Amino acid sequence: MNKYIEFQNRRKNLIDILGDGIAIISNSDESSRNRDCEYPFRSDSYFHYLSGFPEPEAVILILGGNQPRSVIFCKPKEESKEIWNGYIYGPEEAAKQFLFDESYSLDDIDKIAPKILRNYIPNKNIYCIPTKIPSNCGLKTNVNIQNWLSKKSVVNECCDLSKILDNMRRLKSEGEINIMQESANIAAQAHIHAMSITKPGKYEYQIEGEILNQFMQNGARYPAYSSIVASGINACTLHYIENNSILNDGDLLLIDAGCELESYASDITRTYPVNGKFSSAQKDIYQVVLNAQKEAINKVIPGNYFDAPHNAAIEQIVNGLIDLKILKASRDEVFEKELYKEFFMHRTSHWLGLDVHDAGQYFEDPTEDGKSKPVKFEENNVLTVEPGCYIKPNSNVPKEFWGIGIRIEDDVLVTSSGSKVLSENAPKEIEDLEGMVGNLNE
Ligand code: GLY
Ligand code: MN
Ligand code: MN
Repeated sequence: MNKYIEFQNRRKNLIDILGDGIAIISNSDESSRNRDCEYPFRSDSYFHYLSGFPEPEAVILILGGNQPRSVIFCKPKEESKEIWNGYIYGPEEAAKQFLFDESYSLDDIDKIAPKILRNYIPNKNIYCIPTKIPSNCGLKTNVNIQNWLSKKSVVNECCDLSKILDNMRRLKSEGEINIMQESANIAAQAHIHAMSITKPGKYEYQIEGEILNQFMQNGARYPAYSSIVASGINACTLHYIENNSILNDGDLLLIDAGCELESYASDITRTYPVNGKFSSAQKDIYQVVLNAQKEAINKVIPGNYFDAPHNAAIEQIVNGLIDLKILKASRDEVFEKELYKEFFMHRTSHWLGLDVHDAGQYFEDPTEDGKSKPVKFEENNVLTVEPGCYIKPNSNVPKEFWGIGIRIEDDVLVTSSGSKVLSENAPKEIEDLEGMVGNLNE
């Protein structure tokens, strides 16, 4: 079966939603690193979701109305460019392989797009993905829609396409779930390998290198984000990516690393001792975070609100930190003043998919009184569950806890009756971690 049928079906589903309208989506441009060198190209996630077409700058029009169809504009074939940068599909092959009804050269877009749009104006909605810069079109996009429209001197209303696509992207298909399971399997394997080669005296970036190698050896060409390999106090910087410190005996190592497989992210965090043995203080905090994570995962059930896992995690962390005398106020005061935020300052979950922080609302649209409720979990959502605890050196906290930073993060699929942890292959129990760390060191 042509794997692009799923992409074509998404365009058909979008046409049903658009009614008479038209959607315009362009791919990202390449991004220069410096003279003649580009960063590795990665398609815009919305563009990819609707096309699977891998070339920069391409534009697609998805047309509703009485002649529903999808049209792609892409670079023309050009041998002299292909000598340097490789294969270019060209419009003919792009339509054939990616199942578009019509295709044209990007060189002709300013001529052909206005003609196509003419049938859609006036009074028809044009949907596009907004960027941050406003324009007189209402929404700014990186294609020249305003120019195309003003050729007819009609200013149509531009509508936000991202909301429609975000709703579609939040529910994963069987095919997407299979890819995300494999992405999580590869990332879990990389974490297991990292555990087995960790030892005092290595550098964080050496562990990062082994993780990236595992991703690639197992079929994932890129990481989904810059890997965080943070030993000791570095783990208290949430987005630490320097990865250039030496691993010290007695410290913990926090690794937040996931790969990208067929554009789908995994996102896993594990924390374990560099020397393979938790100190008593490290074990205490680890157990609090692990309990919080397990309780949070138990709240991932269809129909539950999105914030239920976060609330469960806070509850566990507050109880644990009060028991350990790290939080010294009463439970009521801790909640009222949100004193736990000194140690657990981030959210527990985000959606996961084509983007590591994936598309999709977290709150329903506000009602008339301005209030909005969290969304509810639905079967085939995928999210992370990742509570943490980070203790900066602080005179109010017993010294043995200073510099401990722990996060445990799994990727969780909402099933018909509960959840499935896609990243369950990565160990997280204390005895399993202690048995595994350093066991490949000579
Ligand atoms: N790795 C980014 C995050 O966990 O959200
Ligand atoms: Mn995450
Ligand atoms: Mn992460």
